[in-house]
Amino acid sequence: MTVTARGKTPTTAPRRAAKTSASAKAAPSAKAGKEAKSATARTAPAAPAVPRVRSVRAGDLPAVIALDATVTGLHKADYWQRVYRRYGVAGQGLRHFLVAVRGDARDAEVCGFVIGEVRDWEFGSPPCGWVFAIDVDPHCRLGGVGTALLAGMRERFRRVGVDRLRTMLARDNTLLLSFFRSQGMTAGRLIPLEIDISDEAPAPAASSATAAQELR
Ligand SMILES: CC(C)(COP(=O)(O)OP(=O)(O)OC[C@H]1O[C@@H](n2cnc3c(N)ncnc32)[C@H](O)[C@@H]1OP(=O)(O)O)[C@@H](O)C(=O)NCCC(=O)NCCS
Repeated sequence: MTVTARGKTPTTAPRRAAKTSASAKAAPSAKAGKEAKSATARTAPAAPAVPRVRSVRAGDLPAVIALDATVTGLHKADYWQRVYRRYGVAGQGLRHFLVAVRGDARDAEVCGFVIGEVRDWEFGSPPCGWVFAIDVDPHCRLGGVGTALLAGMRERFRRVGVDRLRTMLARDNTLLLSFFRSQGMTAGRLIPLEIDISDEAPAPAASSATAAQELR
């Protein structure tokens, strides 16, 4: 369960730069921004400040796959079908795959997702909720979408009696670190350990018959 810095999206983008580029897209100047804002207010209802967070549906998958591909550069349709089957439709209150959507029901757009699961007694820990993936459309960031997604996950974990939320992230992913810190998360009592085992020779006795026996 690892939340890692991945792919093309600059996960370490300084906050000021992110804010500037987001607002630059929306309004080339303060004056133009004000005019655009008042024109919008006159002609169309403003988009809701906070998106709706709900469980993923099959129809959301293309948007989720596209969003993941924007961030990672990889189009992993099979992988997302598997995640959907495991977390989307068979969650039974313990596994959650949530999306944030903007707009009304007919033309709602997915602008982010979060995936998490309650795990029992692993690492000697009482049941706790793990968040292992979160992604917000780069065009929707810094608008509270990530906060709303995490709040949705917290609420679902609390509903099944879980009182602790955990995640893991790459130590150089300062964007995710800033986000999770802003949500009140701090370093926990567990520490991850790892070792590279790629150059270890397979044990001589290992044969397919032994492996099959071990699996029984
Ligand atoms: C981290 C992420 C989920 C945040 O989503 P978001 O919708 O922009 O988050 P919010 O608008 O709710 O921001 C909440 C707080 O997070 C912090 N934060 C968010 N973006 C930040 C940034 N670029 N720099 C510094 N702090 C930031 C701020 O404290 C912010 O609160 P504030 O706006 O009141 O200051 C989003 O940037 C993202 O998806 N990043 C890529 C994550 C990733 O690598 N996923 C792949 C592995 S699973």
